[in-house]
Amino acid sequence: MTYENILATTENGVLTITINRPDKLNALNKKTIGELNTALSLAVTDDSVKAILLTGAGQKAFVAGADISEFANYSVEQGKALSADGHIQLFDLLQNLTKPVIAAINGFALGGGLELAMACHIRVASDNAKMGLPEVSLGVIPGYGGTQRLTQLVGKGKALEMIMTADMITADDALNWGLINHITTQENLLVKCNEIANKIISRSPSAIASAIRSVNANFKDGVNGFEVEIEEFGKCFATEDFKEGTTAFLEKRKPAFTGK
Ligand code: COA
Repeated sequence: MTYENILATTENGVLTITINRPDKLNALNKKTIGELNTALSLAVTDDSVKAILLTGAGQKAFVAGADISEFANYSVEQGKALSADGHIQLFDLLQNLTKPVIAAINGFALGGGLELAMACHIRVASDNAKMGLPEVSLGVIPGYGGTQRLTQLVGKGKALEMIMTADMITADDALNWGLINHITTQENLLVKCNEIANKIISRSPSAIASAIRSVNANFKDGVNGFEVEIEEFGKCFATEDFKEGTTAFLEKRKPAFTGK
């Protein structure tokens, strides 16, 4: 598959997707969102993909937001559609993916860029990264899940401060606030992300998928996460991975999981 605005390469089970519009600081336009949708949808059914890294091209930006030039003249209806389509095509898709997705934040992650990172399961940032939701400085609010996911990650007070001031925060602050999991140097960013991905890949893929579904259930309206956990826990007992994991433990060897 060839793309215009993203690069996608798979090595040792890890699919690295690089948003590749460095001249525009990797701003998310419709085409890029569509290509990300295609790459992620293909990854779901591709057995050779066990984990996914998402990053931005160049040294400066992960993603500097939604492409402002595309929506500057939108109407109310077009604005609503832009937000709703983005949720479905990319942000909810990412959050609900049952393969682990790690954001490698290599620079500015602003607006839709931070929202993209927040929809991933894990975030690692380089020490030069700057993160923020600057939408109110444009007269709009975050529309790709930022008001919800930032609040879930850092709590209401800090989320409202970030959103209302439109300020960027440093990687250090983001780590302290719980917005990101780790900080590295820029050179080491993909190494660190690959280390995390490889550790996850060594575990049971079917159990990982159950864990993602159960944790996500905590954030779904009208869904009792404890009940989802009970269901998912029970389902594990029917998997080959469970048989393999417990047998390998008792036989004092490493498990060879298949994800079945
Ligand atoms: N949408 C569209 N284009 C964007 C963009 C965005 N969100 N962010 C950056 N770009 C483009 C710039 O227009 C510029 O293009 P040009 O060279 O054709 O003029 C190019 O990327 C480089 O950006 P520039 O502003 O010159 O870089 P900088 O180092 O001076 O500033 C930022 C970097 C991130 C502070 C600045 O680009 C910025 O504030 N971007 C918008 C952030 C934002 O509001 N995001 C939320 C959108 S909802």
